[in-house]
Amino acid sequence: MTTTIASSNTQQQKEAFMERLLKSASGTFDMFTIYIGDRLGFYRALAESIGLTSPELAARTGTQERYVREWLEQQTVAGILEVQNEDASPLVRRYRLPDGHIEVLTERDSLDYLTPLSYVFVGATRPLEQLLNAYRNGGGVPYSEYGKEFREGQAGINRSMFLKQLGSEWFPAMPDVHARLQAEPARIADIGCGAGWSSIAIAQTYPNVQVDGYDLDAPSVELAQINVQQAGLSDRVRIQQRDASDPSLRGHYDLVTAFECIHDIGNPVAALQTMRHLAGEDGAVLIADERVGDRFTASGNDVEWMMYGWSVLHCLPVCMADGGDCHCGGTGTVMRTDTLWNYAQAAGFQDIEILPIDNFFFRFYRLYS
Ligand SMILES: C[S@@+](CC[C@H](N)C(=O)[O-])C[C@H]1O[C@@H](n2cnc3c(N)ncnc32)[C@H](O)[C@@H]1O
Repeated sequence: MTTTIASSNTQQQKEAFMERLLKSASGTFDMFTIYIGDRLGFYRALAESIGLTSPELAARTGTQERYVREWLEQQTVAGILEVQNEDASPLVRRYRLPDGHIEVLTERDSLDYLTPLSYVFVGATRPLEQLLNAYRNGGGVPYSEYGKEFREGQAGINRSMFLKQLGSEWFPAMPDVHARLQAEPARIADIGCGAGWSSIAIAQTYPNVQVDGYDLDAPSVELAQINVQQAGLSDRVRIQQRDASDPSLRGHYDLVTAFECIHDIGNPVAALQTMRHLAGEDGAVLIADERVGDRFTASGNDVEWMMYGWSVLHCLPVCMADGGDCHCGGTGTVMRTDTLWNYAQAAGFQDIEILPIDNFFFRFYRLYS
C-alpha cells in the first residue's frame, strides 16, 4: 500500500516536472524569437500598422517572406501576436501586435520595455564553450566575450529606470545628497557605468554636476561615450576605461555610485576601497544591486530564480575572470546584504543603510565611512 502511494507520488512529481520543463523550453524560444523580431524590425513594422500579411511584413523590412511567415505563425502560437483571419490561406493571413504588447516590445523609454532581456539571453549563451571550460578547469569568462548583444541588452534594460527614476525617486531618498547636488556644483564618480545611462541620467537631473563614469570593458566605454555625445553632455560627462579595484584611481567626489556592478567585480573589496577614497570624508557612497533574499532558501522568490540564472551563465564567470584576489571566492549575481556588508567593512566602511526605495530588481545601499 505504502509502496503504491509512493510510486503514485513519484509519477505525479515526474509528470509535473516534465510539464514544467516543456513550458520552460517554449519560454526560452520566446527570448530568441523576440530577439529576431526586434533585430529585423518586425515588431516596429507591426506596431505601426493595423495588421500585416507575411508578404507585406517581408516587403516593409527587406526580409524573406518564407522566413517571415514561419516567424509570424510561431509568434501567434506563442501568444505574442494575434491573427485576424486564421482560416485564410497562409499568404493572406493578417497578423497584428496586441495593444497591450506594443509598449513592452517596442517602447524603449517605457519602464515596462522588456525586449532588451532577449538580447541579454542571446549574449549570455554566446561563450558557452568557454563557460564549460571554466566550470571544468577554473578561471572565468571575460565580460567582453558576451559580446555586443549582452552589452546592449544590459544597457537597454536599465536605461529607462535611470532616466525616469534616478532623479525623481532614487537620489531624493538621500535628501542631503539630493539637496547638495541641486544647490551647488558637484562631482560624481559612477563606477562600472556600462553604457553610461546612469551617468547621463545624473547629469540630466543636476545641471551643475560633472560626472566621471568608469568602466573596465573597452567596448562599453566606447558605447557610453557615443551615448553621452548623443545626449549632448560631453562637456559634463566624461567616460574612461578604468579598473575600479585599481588603487591608483584617484579623485575627490561628492558622490560615488555603483549600479548593478559590485557583484561583477573580481575584487569587490578593492573596488569599495576605491569608492571610499574617492568619496573622502564628506562624500556619499551609493550602491544599487540585486534585491535578493537575506539568505539562501530552496523557495527563493522569482527575482532570485532569475538572478541565479544570470549568475550561472554570466556574472559568476565574469567575476572570476576579473582575477579577483580578495579571497571572496567569486560573488555572483546573488549578492546578499550580508555579503556586501562584509565587503564594505573589509574596505573600511563603518555603517550601511538600506534606502527606502521601492524597486522590483534593485536594493539601494548607502555606505558610511
Ligand atoms: C551588469 S553591468 C552594469 C552596467 C551599468 N552600471 C548598468 O547598470 O547598466 C556591470 C558593469 O561592471 C563593469 N565592471 C566589471 N568589473 C569592473 C571593474 N573591475 N572596474 C570597473 N568596471 C567593472 C562591467 O564592465 C560592466 O559594464
